[in-house]
Amino acid sequence: MCGIVGYIGKKEASPILIDGLKKLEYRGYDSAGIAILSEGKINVIKTKGRLADLEERFKGKIPKGNIGIGHTRWATHGAPSDENSHPHMSMSENIAVVHNGIIENYMELKKDLEKKGYKFRSETDTEVLAHLAEMYYDGNLVDTLIKVIKDVRGSFAIGLICKDNPNELVAVRKDSPLIVGLGENENFIASDIPAILEHTRKIYLLNDLEFVHLTSDKVELFTIDKKPINKNIFNVEWDVDAAEKGGFDHFMLKEMYEQPKVINNTITPRIKNGLIEFDDINFTADDLKNISRAFIVACGSAYHAGMVGKYLIENLARIPVEVDIASEFRYRNPIIDDKTLVIIVSQSGETADTLAALRDAKKKGARVLAVVNVVGSSIAREADDVLYTWAGPEIAVASTKGYTTQLMAMYMIALKFGVLSGNLSEKDAKHLINELLTVPEKLEVLLGKIDSIKELAKKYHNRRDVFYIGRGLDHMVALEGSLKLKEISYIHSEAYAAGELKHGTIALIEEGTVVVALATQNSLFEKTLSNIKEVKARGGTVIALAQEGNDSVKEIADEVIVLPKIDDRLSSVLAVVPLQLFAYYCAIDKGCDVDKPRNLAKSVTVE
Ligand code: AGP
Repeated sequence: MCGIVGYIGKKEASPILIDGLKKLEYRGYDSAGIAILSEGKINVIKTKGRLADLEERFKGKIPKGNIGIGHTRWATHGAPSDENSHPHMSMSENIAVVHNGIIENYMELKKDLEKKGYKFRSETDTEVLAHLAEMYYDGNLVDTLIKVIKDVRGSFAIGLICKDNPNELVAVRKDSPLIVGLGENENFIASDIPAILEHTRKIYLLNDLEFVHLTSDKVELFTIDKKPINKNIFNVEWDVDAAEKGGFDHFMLKEMYEQPKVINNTITPRIKNGLIEFDDINFTADDLKNISRAFIVACGSAYHAGMVGKYLIENLARIPVEVDIASEFRYRNPIIDDKTLVIIVSQSGETADTLAALRDAKKKGARVLAVVNVVGSSIAREADDVLYTWAGPEIAVASTKGYTTQLMAMYMIALKFGVLSGNLSEKDAKHLINELLTVPEKLEVLLGKIDSIKELAKKYHNRRDVFYIGRGLDHMVALEGSLKLKEISYIHSEAYAAGELKHGTIALIEEGTVVVALATQNSLFEKTLSNIKEVKARGGTVIALAQEGNDSVKEIADEVIVLPKIDDRLSSVLAVVPLQLFAYYCAIDKGCDVDKPRNLAKSVTVE
């Protein structure tokens, strides 16, 4: 998604803005620009393309000035182009604006402004903000911005500067993330913490419709009624290199190798006396008795984690669970009341559809438990309860540690609810938790198989199609494995319930078609073996995943990835890692941009 950085202080703003935007490149973008205020003039330099193209535009002449706003754009309204890039200027060029989100009523605002004589230069929704600000400008930037926001519907994170207010920068957010960085004689705004982490660790996490007024030595927050807001400072614990690659070729590889550690970080603080204890979630047995049904709502990989959650919660706690894609959930008028628990899963905590689903669920009286990775994100702040996945910053667009820590959250919720509901004995829970605690070391074993996975990628990365099949939990992991391959190597892929293949899709299997068959559920092993035979009989090439000891698969499949032994219900978190690595090495062999795949963004903060 779009990235925003703003600076006001004693230093030159341009390098700070450019470096900050580079730290946000992972969010995916197609154009970039900065606006610098100096000597009574706003100098805007912007371009379609990457930040390197923007620096080209400087031609060695860094724009001078101590106050500025910068932006990387991921196009929503208006194709990527120089004129559609941000910042956008008002007609008189007195005001510059950067924006992340969507102005839903921009067409009617644009018509009205054009009637009033305002000339538009771009096709974007954002430009209406600049002209509205000019129209309302009365010398006070906060008042001006409040008036603008009262006209606007939609989602936004906005930074604004004005040539007649040379030591001021104002900002506001609604539905799109924005933070304030508090420095020494300098202050910042940014859409995400990594952009300003090298300058300050003191952050204000803005809530919706909190207006910010920055000078170089003062930060003030106001409500839309101009009432001052006092906010606690959030101290960022990460170190800068936590958001850097740490010696790996790509963030994605680094984050795959972080999985054992972050899974440990996620589960061990929640295990007390051998059972799951949630410090920050107060769910009692009575609360659970009052829940008649649960929904798990998410997008993409988080949705796949939610599918595993459904299986586990129904298996261990015997509570009916529906899993929904967030963009479907919010438009199908789901049956929700105060006996409904809605579990919202999101790594970024900012996915627009998922955030909207949370709000719908709350409006309908549901209790909302969020499983989120980014501390202080919108979803985290709006849920009734939050279970953080301590995965640390996930920079690669393709989620790996974000997904596997979400799986851990699903296991912990299912175990906790199982014991609370009385459907899972403490003894059985302790057995499963002991198995859970073996996951990190077993992942290390799998991450050590990197050479054999590299070989598989070398052999198969040029195939046109790759199918993934599995039964039960294996089917859910197949979906995630297929998504990984698609999103970073651009190879066409589909995942199917193995038993479903013969109901149509097997017609696509021909000589050499690659099928990744997950056969890690011992209880379903023989059934899946038959499906593998069906594929082989039609000339398919099968890469099978199975637990140690299921050697019969080696007589049938072309390739076999052996997983360490573990309880069937926990094999998902092991099985997905070879699939992540396979997708990664196929993408490398195809020369793809692994961390920033085409057309994708790390956090989809627009619908
Ligand atoms: C996963 O590899 C994708 N990048 C994408 O599907 C992602 O999981 C989805 O956009 C949801 O993001 P969230 O977890 O931040 O809400």
